[in-house]
Amino acid sequence: MATYTPTARTCDLLTPRPRVARALDVGTGSGIHALLAARHAKHVVAIDVNDRALAYTALNAGLNAIDNVECRNGSFFDPVEGETFGLIVCNAPFVVSPEQRWAYRDSGFRGDDVTAHVVHEAASHLSKGGYATLLGSWLIVNEDTPEERPADWVKKTGCDAWILTSIESDPLEHAASWNGSFFADSGTYAEALETWTKYIGELGARGVGEGAILLHKRAGRNSLRIDEIDEDSLEDADAQIRRAFANRRVASNGLLDAKIARAMPLRVERELGRKKAEIVLGDGTCSILPTTPEAIELVERLDGKKTLRKLGADKRAVKLCRELLGLGALKILD
Ligand SMILES: C[S@@+](CC[C@H](N)C(=O)[O-])C[C@H]1O[C@@H](n2cnc3c(N)ncnc32)[C@H](O)[C@@H]1O
Repeated sequence: MATYTPTARTCDLLTPRPRVARALDVGTGSGIHALLAARHAKHVVAIDVNDRALAYTALNAGLNAIDNVECRNGSFFDPVEGETFGLIVCNAPFVVSPEQRWAYRDSGFRGDDVTAHVVHEAASHLSKGGYATLLGSWLIVNEDTPEERPADWVKKTGCDAWILTSIESDPLEHAASWNGSFFADSGTYAEALETWTKYIGELGARGVGEGAILLHKRAGRNSLRIDEIDEDSLEDADAQIRRAFANRRVASNGLLDAKIARAMPLRVERELGRKKAEIVLGDGTCSILPTTPEAIELVERLDGKKTLRKLGADKRAVKLCRELLGLGALKILD
């Protein structure tokens, strides 16, 4: 199998895996996402600018007896002009960086333009009903609305979107996290920190955000959801993501007359004698939602047979159900 780095793991766990005719892996490296997609796609196109990477992809496909991965050399979406796919995965170089030192990190685009480009191109190469999982990075211009830029990019793409933020760094933290290899050489390290922080300052940013941008192409009025994730506690979120997008079509209406059931394990954490409680998704994004013990008690009674009204749901309970539907932790039954 191809190298399974921490970012490759995040990308894998956040990839919806429906059966599709065609899948695309952009910036394939040694082919990990192409090989994973080959199990549920008839045909996979794997793109990289690096011939050596494509040779490893072909080798890894051969070693795993996979014969439906086609390697194409080129930049980003250039080799698939005019083609569409049911699934697109992209863990290409997305780091906001003033350098052009490493192919896996530095795209050569200014600031976060590379992620804007990937979002735009992925959306236009998705077939109807298709999904994309794109790792990316964005400049934080206003700390009160850190996802303002990716939220703008996903508008007008014809896709429902889910931004899952994993890291928010100030310029110095960002610079330090990408220059750790120079730490032993204090002069070079200080120079790198200076260059990187100055670059981010010149871009007018107060920080840098990083995470996954998920797209689901769907006609009609599109929606956006933003959540934080902890990459270390992620589990396979395939089914959860598909449910979360499906729920958006139904959960926009009033929920009181809906019959709702739990769709994944939910863990409850209550503080004894206090009015505070948390509900934790036991799988997938492992998200944590603060709420009240009463709202949780109602969620525990959801059986898919009685409506929320019949169950006596109050405003807080309805709000919690709406949040859990948005996260794909509950499902609505007819
Ligand atoms: C961070 S690595 C990720 C590799 C693999 N997708 C993974 O998840 O492990 C980024 C890959 O993108 C490739 N790459 C760099 N610039 C590219 C470009 N302009 N177009 C396509 N691929 C590119 C690099 O050669 C490298 O293999």
